Amino acid sequence: MFVSDCLGVNGAGRLTIGGLDAVELGSRYATPLYVMDEDEIRANCRAFLRGMKIHREGRGAVAYASKAFCCKRMCRIAAEEGLWLDVASGGELHTALEAGFPSGRIIFHGNNKTAADLTLALEAEVGRIVVDNIFELGLLDHLAKAAGKTACIQLRIKPGVEAHTHEYIRTGGVDSKFGFSLESGEAMKAVVKALGRQSLCLKGLHCHIGSQIFGTEAFRAAASVMTELFARVKRETGYAIPELNLGGGFGIRYLPEQEPAGYESCIEAISRAIAESCRALNISEPFLMVEPGRSIVGPAGITLYTIGAVKEIPGVRTYLTVDGGMADNPRYALYKSEYHMLLAARALAPPTGAYTVAGRCCESGDLLGVNIALPRPAVGEMLAVLATGAYNYSMASNYNRLPRPAVVMVGGGGSYLAVRRESFEDVARFDV
Ligand SMILES: Cc1ncc(COP(=O)(O)O)c(C=O)c1O
Repeated sequence: MFVSDCLGVNGAGRLTIGGLDAVELGSRYATPLYVMDEDEIRANCRAFLRGMKIHREGRGAVAYASKAFCCKRMCRIAAEEGLWLDVASGGELHTALEAGFPSGRIIFHGNNKTAADLTLALEAEVGRIVVDNIFELGLLDHLAKAAGKTACIQLRIKPGVEAHTHEYIRTGGVDSKFGFSLESGEAMKAVVKALGRQSLCLKGLHCHIGSQIFGTEAFRAAASVMTELFARVKRETGYAIPELNLGGGFGIRYLPEQEPAGYESCIEAISRAIAESCRALNISEPFLMVEPGRSIVGPAGITLYTIGAVKEIPGVRTYLTVDGGMADNPRYALYKSEYHMLLAARALAPPTGAYTVAGRCCESGDLLGVNIALPRPAVGEMLAVLATGAYNYSMASNYNRLPRPAVVMVGGGGSYLAVRRESFEDVARFDV
């Protein structure tokens, strides 16, 4: 009935995460509260790594996409597990470096990196810079030359495969702000240009086809389109590009009825597609990289809220209000994303009604979900929203000058603070 392996119910009928009582955690650290299970995060890292070890015989690397949940503690966990790290801004890069993440395993992304961003990346000697466009290619070459360095790059390609949850489509793929289009010939031109720049070393080609992808077919399709480009480059330039980076997008279970593919079997399917395609094209297999974000941290997190007013509008709906909302989880407001919710102290109690869960921002769109089946809640009870480990804390804002909640990690039967709760003073800190 639960969406993640790290969740359970104890003898008192209360929700547990990592074996710890969620109500006790919420009482001890206060609500709203993000709780993440470190053991689950590590298990997810290891599932991808196992896939690489078994199905690629080690010819692969897993980079955690830190945009899903970025803080120093998380960077250290990824480092300890032997992952690479995908950062998509100067701020994420700074956090990773502050956390002591080995810079040679950092992949720097972004569709509009500034000269300052690129300089920071060059100074830190990050492992890869993923070049998004032709302007950036020239700028990076110029900056690297001036610094007397060689930048190891991957080129971001629009492969014309787009995937969303259950389905994928083959498109021209030109209408995206990210990367070089394959269809228009832009990708091939960028490869040739990169090969001609002395301060750039073309290590790989990259694509990212979407998010919350359930099956393996879309990844297989992307792998086959990309390997065709590898073969074309080999044919036309003689250069065998060593790395294929297929990005992230591996789906997770937000609702109990959802059935995403296992991470290890995703790697297996991708590996098979690469092997088949390379054999047919008569090229050697590139080193494979993937960049999972959501799938590493999403299932490991929950958010705990305290329930305030329950407002029944006869014949219309019943609002259940919580002490958080779109400021700590904007995903429903942005995408109508669905979550499984339950009362933390009565995790197994059968639902008796449908509730619209509203936050406390001055915005009528400030909702966390509609028609959520729950037992009749009492004021002061705790509501748990499940699978909130990805793109919640990292997308949180201070709208209405709400301080952002703390992030608590559980693991090995204990709990600790990974990010402290903001105070009102924190919120006003930069005002001049
Ligand atoms: C380039 C790139 N890599 C990896 C990811 C992570 O995706 P996900 O969290 O869906 O695995 C993203 C997400 O936007 C991305 O843009």
